[in-house]
Amino acid sequence: MSSEHLVVAIDGPSGSGKSSVSRAVARQLGIGYLDTGAMYRAVTWWCLEEGVDLDDEAAVEQASRHIPLEMGTDPSHASVLVSGREIEDDIRTTRVSEVVSKVATNTGVRPVLQQLQRDLIDRIATQTGGVVAEGRDITTVVAPDADVRVLLTASVEARLRRRSKELHGHDADHAVEATRDQIVRRDADDSTVSEFTEAAEGVHLVDTSDLDLEQSVAAVVDVVRREAPAK
Ligand code: DC
Repeated sequence: MSSEHLVVAIDGPSGSGKSSVSRAVARQLGIGYLDTGAMYRAVTWWCLEEGVDLDDEAAVEQASRHIPLEMGTDPSHASVLVSGREIEDDIRTTRVSEVVSKVATNTGVRPVLQQLQRDLIDRIATQTGGVVAEGRDITTVVAPDADVRVLLTASVEARLRRRSKELHGHDADHAVEATRDQIVRRDADDSTVSEFTEAAEGVHLVDTSDLDLEQSVAAVVDVVRREAPAK
C-alpha cells in the first residue's frame, strides 16, 4: 500500500450512506475514489450479458479474470466501463442487484477482484495524491494497512428510511415496509462476506443514524484529519 499518499478505506452495510459519504469525502479532500462494489456488479452484468451461468463458479471466476474493466476514479462522476461501454446505470438495475451476491460470495472471484482493487488503490493514490476506497472487506482484507479505516454504521430503521427514499422517493410507512424485506434479504445474502456489528481493531466507527449527509462527511473528514494529519 502507498505510504506517501493518503489511503482512506470506508466500509459499511447498505443504507449506511457508504457511497454518498465516500464520494463526498474524496471530493472534499481532493483525491480519487474507488467503488469496489461496482466491480462485483460489473462482473455480474458481464456474466449476464455473455450468458455465463452465475451458478457455475469456475466460469464466473474466469469471467472475473478476463473482464475488460475500467473503473472511473473521479468522485464527481461515477463511471464503469466494460469494453469501452459505459455501464454505470446498468449495474444499478434490479436485474444485477438481485444476483450480485452470487458473484460476491464466489470464493474464486474474491481474491481476483481483491488483488485488482489493491493495484487500483495504489495507482489511483499515486495519480491523484490519494484515494477513498469503499466497500465491504476494504478495511479488513483489501486495505488493512490504509492510513485511515472507517466503518459507517446506522440503525436498521435509519437504513430502511434511506433506502426507501432511494427506491420510492419517500419514506412513508408503507414504502419503508416494502423496503424492509429487501434490506433484510440483502444483509442475509451478504452476511457471508462480512459482519458489521463490530469494527475491527484500528477501524473507526462512525454512526450515521442521526446524521445527514453533510454531517456524516464532516465526521469522516474529522477522523481523517486526526489520524493522518501529515497527508
Ligand atoms: O456496495 P454494493 O451494493 O454496490 O455491493 C455490491 C455487492 O458486492 C454486494 O453483494 C456486496 C458485495 N461487495 C463485496 O463483497 N465486497 C466489496 N468490497 C464490495 C462489495
